[in-house]
Amino acid sequence: MHALLIGGKGMLGNDLLDAVIRRGGVATVLDLPEVDILQGRELPNRLPPADIAINCAAFTRVDDAERERELCWNINAVGAHNVARACAQRRIPLLHLSTDYVFDGRKGSPYSESDPVAPLNYYGQSKREGELRVLEAGGPAVIVRTQSLYGVRGRNFVRAILGQLQQNKTPLRVVSDQISSPTYTRHLAEALLDLAARRPPNGIVHAAASGACSWWDFAKAIVLRVRPGVDVEPRATSELNYPAPRPPYSVLGTAHLAELIGRHLPTWEEGLDAYLAEEPLTAELRRR
Ligand SMILES: NC(=O)c1ccc[n+]([C@@H]2O[C@H](COP(=O)([O-])OP(=O)(O)OC[C@H]3O[C@@H](n4cnc5c(N)ncnc54)[C@H](OP(=O)(O)O)[C@@H]3O)[C@@H](O)[C@H]2O)c1
Repeated sequence: MHALLIGGKGMLGNDLLDAVIRRGGVATVLDLPEVDILQGRELPNRLPPADIAINCAAFTRVDDAERERELCWNINAVGAHNVARACAQRRIPLLHLSTDYVFDGRKGSPYSESDPVAPLNYYGQSKREGELRVLEAGGPAVIVRTQSLYGVRGRNFVRAILGQLQQNKTPLRVVSDQISSPTYTRHLAEALLDLAARRPPNGIVHAAASGACSWWDFAKAIVLRVRPGVDVEPRATSELNYPAPRPPYSVLGTAHLAELIGRHLPTWEEGLDAYLAEEPLTAELRRR
């Protein structure tokens, strides 16, 4: 298998690269500065023949998106469209990554692919527009919505908590009113490659870890594994004054993915254990 990993130098992209190589495939990483998805006219010429393209390129700084609206829109909506059109032109099937932040989080039970969208923040709006433009580009394309990613090669929540433990910034205070399914990028990468192999029909597929928890629950699980006994206090999202509002409950129902690839992703607890086994800070914290 030859996979094009667009935005392949990012957190998920790095784990996709490893996963392709583990399976004996070949990957081409297309990312800044060599390849810019905003250069729509040049893009088709930058795509070598391949079996699949996976588009991870995005503006992902959710709070900054409220200020840097033009750049965010260009990357997440216009850039996504450029990628989809280039893939359609080169007849390369596309998996395009999107987000749970297309939902407002008021449903109170897991979202299915057909639930109505209502993004609360600008990042979510730009990603939703990207979804629509990818689907109308005319090539074989699947939107994969995921959420709350953490991976060894990216800034992420688990490492932020480990960093606070390392600096003895305790007790920890973590929001308890945002519930999702924290998803280990290595587990997601494997599921994406399984999905690519199935050649699913155009549409939307939700992909996230099994189970759900608040960031507070997640932080307590991290502490339990590396520094049992440290206090983790719950706090409200409203105390933090984030520029971008977050959905309170954005768990993604993954029955459709399970039908397509014959399994669910591992649970968020299994993801956390696997991440901690790879994360250099874990051993350092456990030694102290
Ligand atoms: N992280 C999450 O919690 C989360 C949750 C839900 C969905 N997602 C989605 O999952 C996907 C992957 O997320 P991630 O966390 O792995 O993202 P990431 O680490 O931010 O990686 C994105 C990559 O895209 C590159 N990029 C940005 N603009 C580009 C452009 N114009 N041309 C080419 N490459 C460009 C970035 O380069 P620079 O770093 O140089 O900008 C970066 O290497 C994204 O679509 C994201 O929206 C993420």
